[in-house]
Amino acid sequence: MKIAHAFSIWMALAIGLAASGASAADDVENGKKIAKKCTACHTLNKGGKNRLGPNLFGVLGKPAGHVKDYKYSKALLDSGIVWDEANFMAFIDNPKKTIKGTKMSFAGIKKPAQRAELLAYFKTLTDAAAPKETAGNAEDGLVAAKKHCIVCHSFEKGGRVVFGPTLFDIYGKPAASIPGYEYSTAMKNSGLTWNDKNLLEFLSNPGRFLPGTTARFPGLKSAQEKADILAYLKTLK
Ligand code: HEC
Ligand code: HEC
Repeated sequence: MKIAHAFSIWMALAIGLAASGASAADDVENGKKIAKKCTACHTLNKGGKNRLGPNLFGVLGKPAGHVKDYKYSKALLDSGIVWDEANFMAFIDNPKKTIKGTKMSFAGIKKPAQRAELLAYFKTLTDAAAPKETAGNAEDGLVAAKKHCIVCHSFEKGGRVVFGPTLFDIYGKPAASIPGYEYSTAMKNSGLTWNDKNLLEFLSNPGRFLPGTTARFPGLKSAQEKADILAYLKTLK
């Protein structure tokens, strides 16, 4: 009995490890299959129409009930939920228990591993995820930065001001945070924290992304060059 018990724990661990060893891409693929359980009532594409349930593109991070032209239950609208990983997982496990009175009639997905895969897939249903498709290479990024940025920027810690500030350790920092550099008002007031999404947009066309910026640089067209430069900027720590 004891041995059988120990064995079953060992099996559970082994299965757990195997599951966590699966690649993120596999999770997304599996999650996409599991999502077939949802598409009876939900469209998942951007701008998709409502079925029995609302369109679910980009639902993570949004407040419950954000789809304008869908008639939600009062229970869901009053839930005060913002869809994060934890409450999404709870809702998918047991909708009626998570939001008493919801009109989503769905038994729930009982296997935690399946819910995790579904979550991985739902995380890809956003606009922000799209640029990640182009993987950047930091070495190519250095070459591209020398070509496109070095006329105005240095890249070293405490590097000199050329026309723009040094770009050392800019990633993850608030915009306009290099001491001693005279930024435009637009940059100072932008409230940005440099991340993948806004750096890629800024590099595509600074003037359009942030009207009033003094970064007079037409922008980069090549998605690959942008991704490479982004990867390079991340190494400057
Ligand atoms: C039988 C139809 C049905 C199925 C199947 C179904 N749903 Fe729903 N879902 C609904 C309905 C109806 C609502 C609106 C609930 C309300 O207003 O109370 C909803 C609402 C939701 C919401 C809240 C959306 C928002 O804008 O706040 C999420 C998230 C959700 N469903 C996820 C899922 C996922 C993930 C699956 C698949 C695992 C799924 N649903 C399967 C009918 C369904
Ligand atoms: C023609 C000169 C010029 C070129 C070329 C240029 N920049 Fe800039 N950049 C600037 C100026 C000037 C600023 C300050 C903008 C402001 O204050 O509005 C700036 C600001 C920035 C910022 C924000 C810095 C901060 O501290 O918030 C980033 C990021 C940036 N540039 C990246 C790049 C990258 C990457 C390239 C090459 C692909 C590049 N820039 C090319 C002039 C340039």
